[in-house]
Amino acid sequence: MDLDLQGKSVIVTGGASNIGRAIALGFAAEGARVTIADLDTAAGERVAALALKEGAAAARVVKTDVTDLASVQALFQEANDAHGGIHCLVNNVGWDKLMFFTQTTPDLWQKLISINYVGVLNCTKTALDYMVPAGGGSIVSISSDASRQGEPREAVYGGLKAAVNSFMKTIAKENGRYNIRCNCVCPGVTVPDTVEETSENSMWKEKNAMFTDEQFAAIAKTLPLRRIGKPSDIANAVMFLSSQKAAGFITGQILSASGGYSMIG
Ligand SMILES: NC(=O)c1ccc[n+]([C@@H]2O[C@H](COP(=O)([O-])OP(=O)(O)OC[C@H]3O[C@@H](n4cnc5c(N)ncnc54)[C@H](O)[C@@H]3O)[C@@H](O)[C@H]2O)c1
Repeated sequence: MDLDLQGKSVIVTGGASNIGRAIALGFAAEGARVTIADLDTAAGERVAALALKEGAAAARVVKTDVTDLASVQALFQEANDAHGGIHCLVNNVGWDKLMFFTQTTPDLWQKLISINYVGVLNCTKTALDYMVPAGGGSIVSISSDASRQGEPREAVYGGLKAAVNSFMKTIAKENGRYNIRCNCVCPGVTVPDTVEETSENSMWKEKNAMFTDEQFAAIAKTLPLRRIGKPSDIANAVMFLSSQKAAGFITGQILSASGGYSMIG
């Protein structure tokens, strides 16, 4: 199905690595104008070069810290001016450190809150500043099945992703009248094919930093679809929800793309 994303201006935060990279390349293959917003511009430039090869109408990288509102506002200004508006935002930046809650510290909580929640607030607020006057748009936030399941060693992160789900539903209700759709995609464990598909700050920079190969195999066995997620699995769900043609009557939804790990309803 043609998703009608050709020429659309899309911002992908955290687009230099793993899932965000696949999302940026997915939009590129649909002929979109892609802005990659990331702290790691060197990795971002590699993705942008690939995006142009894949068919992006334009691709640029803007060094951005999503936790800093001024940085986010500068990102949107640049993307708007260079790419003719802001049609889609993908709030993809996220970060976690696997630890039992009893081992965590308030400093870690603050870092998790800034990256996983304040970053989404900064980008969504700024996107709405452009999308409301323009008469429409799509915002997709990358949440996590940890928000729905309760995941050991992800207490604070899972709670923040649940906050993102709730926030996005409210934003969907407040802004549907402006033709702005807001949805979430929840990945389960989603691993890059190679470390070349990650950035300097990536949680997956070292292949087994999060899980050993034995743990990956054990996780795969528990999933109905019997395999670990690939970044493109998440990108496909994001592009579907971002497409006005495919998902024009879908808003306020939380969609798991996790091989059946989470089944709600
Ligand atoms: N990979 C998984 O297994 C998994 C599972 C569930 C949810 N998620 C969610 O999916 C999203 C992407 O995960 P991933 O595995 O691709 O992450 P990743 O660590 O590979 O990449 C994250 C990117 O975000 C960038 N970044 C970090 N902090 C930033 C900031 N303050 N401002 C701008 N850029 C910043 C990093 O430089 C990096 O390029 C996250 O929201 C994550 O929570 C991932």
